[in-house]
Amino acid sequence: MTGLFDISGKVALVTGGAQGLGRMIAEGLVRAGARVYITSRKADICEQTARELSEFGECFPIPADLTTPEAATALVNEIKSRESVVHILINNAGKTWGAPLESFPDKAWASVMAVNVQGPFTLVRDLLPLLKAGATAENPARVINIGSLAGAKAERLSAYSYSASKAAIHHLSKVLAADLAESHITVNAVVLGYFPTQMTAHIRKEDDETQKLLARVPLGRLGTPEDIVGLITFLSSRAGAYVTGSEMYLDGGLSGCA
Ligand SMILES: NC(=O)c1ccc[n+]([C@@H]2O[C@H](COP(=O)([O-])OP(=O)(O)OC[C@H]3O[C@@H](n4cnc5c(N)ncnc54)[C@H](OP(=O)(O)O)[C@@H]3O)[C@@H](O)[C@H]2O)c1
Repeated sequence: MTGLFDISGKVALVTGGAQGLGRMIAEGLVRAGARVYITSRKADICEQTARELSEFGECFPIPADLTTPEAATALVNEIKSRESVVHILINNAGKTWGAPLESFPDKAWASVMAVNVQGPFTLVRDLLPLLKAGATAENPARVINIGSLAGAKAERLSAYSYSASKAAIHHLSKVLAADLAESHITVNAVVLGYFPTQMTAHIRKEDDETQKLLARVPLGRLGTPEDIVGLITFLSSRAGAYVTGSEMYLDGGLSGCA
């Protein structure tokens, strides 16, 4: 049972790994000894984060705006020029759009679906040769898609395209898990509750809004880096090798017991 949570030496790609939850995930993987590629739309932030995380191990920046499938393919080609195997793909980059129902704009659909659903699909499709190259029955390659409680239950966020996109990525994870099981690639969705990042800043901007949110969370707090890194490490290591096609809730009890 030694080494159950060991991920040292694995190669990982974390989209949106320069900021927010992606950065937390990337730092956790780097500190655990994985070689980690991170993306951001902003080259300077991407490079700065990679420099900072390189203090703990190996981290490399690849700037990419994943709004188009062509950009996802270009990202994979860049990875292919540097690596022959990818063990862990974390589809973390995500876009949201909030507006009242009456004025919710049509343009809030295509870009949100592109980043949150089509991008992850294209990355999986194009990375298949590299994912398969390192995958065995005992140690499958891992695809982890970052989902949201908003895609699992009706959170009142007025984020219509975002909620639908997250429901879509949860389901797409299961479909891909079924198709890729025989290739020894697991695919899971991590369904997140509330973490204090830029994406949730508007919900937390007033003290009483934060208190209202906390009052709804059975465990009484927001998520932390330890919470997300713990679950990602589990799913990426031998410990999580038998988990596929799952929606893993990381929400302080909001979905299960609120
Ligand atoms: N925070 C929460 O409570 C919460 C809850 C449920 C789910 N999530 C999910 O967690 C993931 C990370 O979100 P976060 O909370 O860390 O929010 P965030 O701080 O706003 O981060 C969003 C990330 O997505 C990247 N991104 C956005 N649009 C992109 C694009 N067109 N191309 C490439 N990258 C793009 C951003 O990269 P750059 O800005 O650096 O380009 C950034 O790294 C998302 O999938 C989100 O839906 C978060």
